[in-house]
Amino acid sequence: MADLFIKQAKQYADARPNYPLQLFHFISSKTPAKDLAWDVGTGSGQAAQSLAGIYENVVGTDTSLKQLEFAPKLANVRYQQTPAVIPMEELEEYVSAQSSVDLVTIAQALHWFDLPAFYQQVKWVLKKPNGVVAAWCYTVPEVNDAVDSVFKPFYEIDSDPYWDPARKLVNDKYATIDFPFEPLEGTDHTGPFKFVTEREMSLNEYFTYLKSWSAYQTAKEKGVDLLRDDVVEKFKNAWNEDGHDKKVVKFPVYLKIGKVGNM
Ligand SMILES: C[S@@+](CC[C@H](N)C(=O)[O-])C[C@H]1O[C@@H](n2cnc3c(N)ncnc32)[C@H](O)[C@@H]1O
Repeated sequence: MADLFIKQAKQYADARPNYPLQLFHFISSKTPAKDLAWDVGTGSGQAAQSLAGIYENVVGTDTSLKQLEFAPKLANVRYQQTPAVIPMEELEEYVSAQSSVDLVTIAQALHWFDLPAFYQQVKWVLKKPNGVVAAWCYTVPEVNDAVDSVFKPFYEIDSDPYWDPARKLVNDKYATIDFPFEPLEGTDHTGPFKFVTEREMSLNEYFTYLKSWSAYQTAKEKGVDLLRDDVVEKFKNAWNEDGHDKKVVKFPVYLKIGKVGNM
């Protein structure tokens, strides 16, 4: 699956949303120390660069070297390519020592992971008992009624056969994803908590975002162009209806968050 993100790494870096500051303020307010954050499935560093402004050091790991090539180079961020499942005995070398990490983040990537193996690693690297794990996904973009009504069948019908089954966890807004961590102080559950992120996009950027989907890549490999001429035309007409090329595109974000406890 990770291969799906290699071929469209540039589209990914160009068109995926960054995440809102409130999200990082909320998450970082839950970690007593700010020494080290591990951003897993960091891609082109969308979360890692925000974490770099809050945590002294950040490790951003990804299976795809191509994605990492597009990540912003920052003095306190170390990017590291890893295997899909890091062997436990190599975790310290790839990431950090046992009980040394304040925060593990996974932005729009947890649904791709081998969860039991990954959670074992999260529990090993996090500081006990207050180390925090935060995983979020965003669902479909919202533009306006005209564009969203073209998008709906494009997403629910045209692209549907080309999504990996793991995508269902995103459609469920992470409400059904396995997340074996303790609720934070002041709450009795681990989410999902809702946030919203926005990105201003032109029509071309919106198309680039659609082309960054793993489903777009999978369809292409099967000889199907999801953005065929008649679909492009419908999007164009809907987009141009209000006469503005630049539009604010909103993505609802769903956060699962918990602490590791004493295990
Ligand atoms: C949808 S992208 C998310 C990228 C970025 N975190 C973001 O918020 O936009 C998913 C990323 O997870 C990476 N990935 C998939 N499986 C992985 C695994 N088992 N371990 C680490 N990274 C993985 C992919 O290469 C890809 O860069």
